[in-house]
Amino acid sequence: MLKKFFENTRHPEGLGGRIMLAMMNSGHVSMAKWGLSFLPIRPEHHILDIGCGGGANMAVMLQQASEGKVCGIDYSALSVEKAISVNQDAVAEGRAEVRQASVSELPYDAETFDIVTAFETVYFWPDFQNDLREVYRVLKPGGVFFICNEETRQDGDQSPAKGFEKLLSLNVYSPQEFHVHLTGAGFRDVTIHYAEKKSWLCVTAVKPKTFDPL
Ligand SMILES: C[S@@+](CC[C@H](N)C(=O)[O-])C[C@H]1O[C@@H](n2cnc3c(N)ncnc32)[C@H](O)[C@@H]1O
Repeated sequence: MLKKFFENTRHPEGLGGRIMLAMMNSGHVSMAKWGLSFLPIRPEHHILDIGCGGGANMAVMLQQASEGKVCGIDYSALSVEKAISVNQDAVAEGRAEVRQASVSELPYDAETFDIVTAFETVYFWPDFQNDLREVYRVLKPGGVFFICNEETRQDGDQSPAKGFEKLLSLNVYSPQEFHVHLTGAGFRDVTIHYAEKKSWLCVTAVKPKTFDPL
């Protein structure tokens, strides 16, 4: 019963999904605020939020990217519906859009976004290395990929999973594992921030600018 309800963090659906989306929209505010303090968003930025859930983080980033655009994707139809309703004015103005899609096949052309964000979602991605390449593809050269997680592991921690990691079979990555996966997908300047008191983790990684011989 408990597991069934919390499975709505992986794929919100039905009444439990509606309740979970409302809970996540309020419950993730502090961590997202902390994480976003490491991400310089400029007014003209074009941003993609992967696994956007109920769209609360899109709303925050829309305030900062005041002349840009914030897109969200989520494979849950319910998340898409909620994120559109939370950001309805920006959607009506064409400053935001939300599409139902998987991270493994992003419905965007190469080199579209200045920033791609992933709050509390990489635990669920089906093929992390391949999905990171998909993120890399849609980022502009010089663009930044941002991850923010509250489920974390220390480097070298081989202890059995417990809590939500165990209940939901989450893929929880340590800083070292993030570094290996991100550099393996082509990212550089991988920077990890850790809030010890809360055990929140935030990662930024840059898609290098292509070499221009001229
Ligand atoms: C824990 S919720 C986080 C929602 C939101 N980012 C937040 O911080 O409140 C995870 C979200 O990721 C979405 N998600 C999980 N796996 C996904 C995938 N493979 N492709 C797209 N979205 C995915 C889920 O549907 C869910 O809405």
